[in-house]
Amino acid sequence: MGNFKYYFSILLLTVVLLACKKDPESGVPLSNNEGASEIDNKVAQLLSKMTLEEKIGQMNQYNGFWDVTGPTPESGDAAKKYEHLRKGYVGSMLNVTGVENVRAVQKIAVEETRLGIPLIIGFDVIHGYKTLSPIPLAEAASWDLEAIKKSAEIAALEASAAGINWTFAPMVDISRDARWGRVMEGAGEDTYLGSKIAEARVKGFQGEDLSQPHTIAACAKHWAGYGFAESGKDYNTVDVGTSTLNNIIFPPFKATVDAGVKTFMNSFNELNGIPATGNVWLQRDILKGKWGFDGFVVSDWGSMAEMINHGYARDKKHAAELSALAGSDMDMESYAYVSELANLVKEGKVSEDVIDDAVTRILRVKFELGLFDDPYKYCDLQREKEITGSQEIHDAVLEVAKKSIVLLKNENNILPLKKDGQHIAVIGALADDKTSPLGSWRIGAEDGTAVSVLEGLQQYQGNLITYAKGADVITGEASFPFELTENNTDKSGFNEAVNVAKKADVVIMVLGEHAFHSGEARSRANIGLPGVQQELLEAVYAANKNMVLVLNNGRPLAITWADAHIPAIVEAWQLGTQSGNAIAQVLYGDYNPSGKLPMTFPRSVGQVPIYYNYKNTGRPSANEPNSVFWSHYTDESNAPLYPFGHGLSYTTFSYSNLETKVVGNNQVEVTFTVKNTGKVKGKEVAQLYIRDWFASVTRPVKELKGFELVELAPNETQQITLKLTDKELGFYNNEGEFVVEPGKFSVFVGGSSNTILETDFEL
Ligand code: NOJ
Repeated sequence: MGNFKYYFSILLLTVVLLACKKDPESGVPLSNNEGASEIDNKVAQLLSKMTLEEKIGQMNQYNGFWDVTGPTPESGDAAKKYEHLRKGYVGSMLNVTGVENVRAVQKIAVEETRLGIPLIIGFDVIHGYKTLSPIPLAEAASWDLEAIKKSAEIAALEASAAGINWTFAPMVDISRDARWGRVMEGAGEDTYLGSKIAEARVKGFQGEDLSQPHTIAACAKHWAGYGFAESGKDYNTVDVGTSTLNNIIFPPFKATVDAGVKTFMNSFNELNGIPATGNVWLQRDILKGKWGFDGFVVSDWGSMAEMINHGYARDKKHAAELSALAGSDMDMESYAYVSELANLVKEGKVSEDVIDDAVTRILRVKFELGLFDDPYKYCDLQREKEITGSQEIHDAVLEVAKKSIVLLKNENNILPLKKDGQHIAVIGALADDKTSPLGSWRIGAEDGTAVSVLEGLQQYQGNLITYAKGADVITGEASFPFELTENNTDKSGFNEAVNVAKKADVVIMVLGEHAFHSGEARSRANIGLPGVQQELLEAVYAANKNMVLVLNNGRPLAITWADAHIPAIVEAWQLGTQSGNAIAQVLYGDYNPSGKLPMTFPRSVGQVPIYYNYKNTGRPSANEPNSVFWSHYTDESNAPLYPFGHGLSYTTFSYSNLETKVVGNNQVEVTFTVKNTGKVKGKEVAQLYIRDWFASVTRPVKELKGFELVELAPNETQQITLKLTDKELGFYNNEGEFVVEPGKFSVFVGGSSNTILETDFEL
């Protein structure tokens, strides 16, 4: 039965190829080249000269094995890869960086292979190359799409100067599970915000013109469902229904296609029983068919071969067959295509049209990057020197770092700090850390290159600062990505920290996660402060309650005790190279915090997955006091610790005059007024949510459908108008159709998902 399905797919692809220009389902292009662009013609011409082995070579990506001196080590895999490179059996390499190295491998591809096809050089430029922006989750907290786009632009600038022309970013996986370590790499829990950010990031990396030397190809990943791993455990099984797929998981990916993203990466997970890498429906039907994506899909690292462990492919050959037929165009490190695909074609199990389609897609991106015009365009040593770590890049990452900070709590206006005459105790190993703030996914950056919190605070010279470590977060040094982090248990520094705190006017504690507590394969079952930091916090608090807690972390943390006791809490994530400067400017009020949480903070891990756009259920609340039979916990509140969209400022804002006006068919204008009611200038992210009360498929209690970032002087007001159209009012039903259904809607506005104003309208 299984085989029948694949033979049938091949037949179908062939029939389609002969019959029409482009099959809407499979996306396989026509043999007839009528109306094709100049690039399509060049691709077709080149393709016609290629042997089967050369074509398959383009579909093969190898990990870097290259150092300035040449292939290293010169044995085993490296030697084989080197030989393949010279034969033209490699289309792409990842993790080769630096102009000299990239030039060396490119030279072999261009000068030693028969057709001289240049390599496309990929790298995980996730939040910068050497000079780092905040981790993506932190940047999402800025809700500032221009700043996020700029950050991707700057990352592309620095990476492209080092020979890289393709980033494996943005990760657009929605996740509602703080246990999953890779939430640090995405835009959080919301599909609307996530889609806007996905678009901004793609446009930032790719720019207006991909052939410019400062732009690089982007890659939307991981297609699909990776953020819904069961129990938040990385790589785990994903089983989600149609409604969640269409309405929550897919939209950010669709936004990247609409923004012109050049590549996709599939995911490690199986989705409803079929591994993503071998998933015909995901890659051919939806992505290349329904959405008309004309770029290429790269597998995730070894994900083709992993289909054997999933229990889907019998062996590597079968994995290659399933992957190719499903539309995985490039093999990252499974060695499946390079070793198996030619035989599969000869045996008639994979048609050469499938190969041609994949190679066409890959070559097209190489042409668009301008690699055929000048394969060394990213290999200018002088440019690398000038751009790497330039002032322009440092200024840009500092700007976005400040915008990413979220003020969670500020009782009695303990913040901003006074600039003179204070004795400040700074406590916590992370305060003096110049590496951890770089965050996870920082393979291009050097350890020790971040500005620490202590260094940032020392820029302000009017106060006396005393530092005590208190306790380490982890034992030893963890270096990405291979070492495990082990939480520290040593409390011998507690006394010193307590004594320092006793003498201070204000205590700043910098606690949280080490960078490698989050990221790939860094799931956590307990999401409080790791190690002995909770105990340290309580001990120091007992000595001095005038305390500001600065959090460094890559995911929401369950910090319920801290929220109940510590007067001021600042969410500073992992903010990248300029971390300490950004934090100091916020603590001293030179930057008024404006960030809002892109993910709900739970009270306890038992509430996870917890998210603001949940469904109402049949028993949403207790119908009488002490009622038992409703949807709740017996030992925990249903409410989160901090809701999605939450974030304070050193000023306050009021909301008034909410009105809606139906201005056309499925067109509603929403207006409201925001006023700065405090004493200093500040920025507010005004948020608009809707509820569709009754629908053929039930809708969430609230869904974000618009937001605007406004900056207001004290007493200044601004009227905001946001428009709701089909796109915001509709949803995908379980047949996968997008529908807008008439009936009652509510509109909510405010400065978080705990909104302030509400009104209704009828469609
Ligand atoms: C595995 C990760 O899942 C993926 O996101 C990354 O791009 C590749 N490794 C390459 O490093």
